Amino acid sequence: MHPDHADELDLTRRQLLLFADDLQTMVEREKLRRTEVEQAYRELSSSYLRMVRTLAEVVEARDSYTRSHLDRTYQFAMALTRRVAPELTTRAAIGYGYLLHDIGKVGIPDSILNKPGPLTDDEWRVMRTHPVIGVTLVEPLKLLGDAVSIVRSHHERWDGGGYPEGLRGEDIYLPARIFMLADAFDAMTTDRPYRKALPIHVALEEVESHAGSQFDPEVAQAWLALIDELEREGHPLTALSG
Ligand SMILES: [Fe+2]
Repeated sequence: MHPDHADELDLTRRQLLLFADDLQTMVEREKLRRTEVEQAYRELSSSYLRMVRTLAEVVEARDSYTRSHLDRTYQFAMALTRRVAPELTTRAAIGYGYLLHDIGKVGIPDSILNKPGPLTDDEWRVMRTHPVIGVTLVEPLKLLGDAVSIVRSHHERWDGGGYPEGLRGEDIYLPARIFMLADAFDAMTTDRPYRKALPIHVALEEVESHAGSQFDPEVAQAWLALIDELEREGHPLTALSG
């Protein structure tokens, strides 16, 4: 080989090695940056979740008839989501929505929210505004994403007889359909001032008979199957509410 060529080759080799070193440094830096960003994101997400929980607990604390309702319905809804739409369980917004579903109750007067007897028609009209009040609170918080659709639609019924929009069937956001069942099941199986809790088997019959009217039939079937499995494995319902 001509000596000039050998020098040239050597120079190119050295340049390539330097270039590889630079690349390696860049990759390491990028890795570090990503780790920092990921850590910051994880911290932000967990602070956000804590804040959302606190907000939801503030609402629950005002509503004297629904103690522990928040935790149970959250667990029921998550268990159903894992079964019906597992791909949604990784989306933080869904959990936020389940926790914040009743956030709009901050706008409902105590005299209605905690009335010991049944509500009058006018009082019901006020009570039914809580999903829309909730939307106005949650919508500006972009990080909450689709949570707003759960807040808006958690009282919509499969047959179109719910509120606030009277949406029907699959027009209702799936997690809101899931939540409707979790919420109703918890209400049925909890003591209320005006009636005792229903036994679980009666509440399950109610779910079955309202599948296709109040509840999404697929969600209702998934719930019946889930409870059936838990019972067969000897787990009480509390296995879900932890
Ligand atoms: Fe509600």
